[in-house]
Amino acid sequence: MADTVRDMPSGPRLLPCSVVLVGLMGSGKSSVGKRLASLLDAPFYNSDAEIVTAAGMSIPEIFASVGEQGFRDGERRVIARLLAGRPSVISTGGGGFLDPDTRANIRSRAISVWLRADLDVLWERVRDRPGRPLLQVTDPRAVLADLHRRRAPIYSEADVIVDSRRNSDPAQTAREALKSILVHVEAHAGQ
Ligand code: S3P
Repeated sequence: MADTVRDMPSGPRLLPCSVVLVGLMGSGKSSVGKRLASLLDAPFYNSDAEIVTAAGMSIPEIFASVGEQGFRDGERRVIARLLAGRPSVISTGGGGFLDPDTRANIRSRAISVWLRADLDVLWERVRDRPGRPLLQVTDPRAVLADLHRRRAPIYSEADVIVDSRRNSDPAQTAREALKSILVHVEAHAGQ
């Protein structure tokens, strides 16, 4: 966690380091992130959107043209650039926190928040939404289940864990995230 975190005031209006949302596809990182940014009066960035802008291509087009590894390289660079900028709320693509360098970078410069959700909830949210190349397979639910099982231990390294429940209101989840972030900051003050 960033040294500056210990100086974070108890009010929500100032953000001395970035907050990074991590978690699987469908966990609500962008919808919750936008609301959290507004509660914190901070800019909001979505790493996928930044990659799309930088590449001038959609995510499926990037996967088709440079492969998953090419996408991951771009993702690492984009998240590093966002973390080096002024404090903001950053929603990352589901694979962002899996990269060891990115994870270390997030852990040293930001407060990480895992939006945790049950597999069934995630599946309901992503099943009819195209645009996620990893799920363009014969049995996307099985792929999502496998990612859910393999990635959970890594997401659980986040500083803060917030549950994203079925039919939950993103504004309410953002308020819960903010409360947990402030508890985390308080607990680490002076360290
Ligand atoms: C991915 C998640 C996607 C996007 C890409 C790969 C992943 O982002 O980055 O399709 O590896 O989980 P969302 O989590 O925003 O859907």
